[in-house]
Amino acid sequence: MKIKDKEFGVFIQQSSIEKRVRELAAQISEDYKGLDPVIIPILNGAFLFASDLVKEISIPCELSFVKASSYSGMESTGNVKKVFGLDMNLKSRHVILVDDIVDTGLTMDVIVKDLKSLQPASIEMMTLLLKPEALQKQLHVKYVGFTIPNNFVVGYGLDYEGLGRNLKDIYQIVGR
Ligand code: IMP
Ligand code: MG
Repeated sequence: MKIKDKEFGVFIQQSSIEKRVRELAAQISEDYKGLDPVIIPILNGAFLFASDLVKEISIPCELSFVKASSYSGMESTGNVKKVFGLDMNLKSRHVILVDDIVDTGLTMDVIVKDLKSLQPASIEMMTLLLKPEALQKQLHVKYVGFTIPNNFVVGYGLDYEGLGRNLKDIYQIVGR
């Protein structure tokens, strides 16, 4: 499949994503029983993952969104832009920060530090995809969907220059 100038092939099928999302949701439902967690997806990338995730969570939870952006084309710019922030009091709440992918880790690092200053009772990170080879920050991401090699991916919320977010499967770049 071609998006702009790049060729992509299926990497993780919809059925595998669905299965893993159900497992993560079950784990959250267990770990946060009685805690009414606040789930904070990072837009835009996490929108599909987060919506599928919360539908499978069986305990009461709240949702609030933040928006950040650090990518330009296929490279992290290393400069995380917070486009809009939180409209909710997190003091003494149990927070789960959710992203589509942790690459360099700069985005999660900046947002986690920000959220910590709001004095939540606890804060954990969840990502559908983790690229350990690209990580530049020491982050403890407690909930990981899939650990993947350091190749560019699109689909299921992830984009290449704005395109591909709507794809049901996750695709990996073919060649370079
Ligand atoms: P980080 O700050 O380098 O960890 O990058 C996080 C953000 O960059 C993610 O939320 C994605 O939006 C984007 N990103 C990182 N890797 C990829 C990729 O392989 N494909 C598409 N977007 C990516
Ligand atoms: Mg993102």
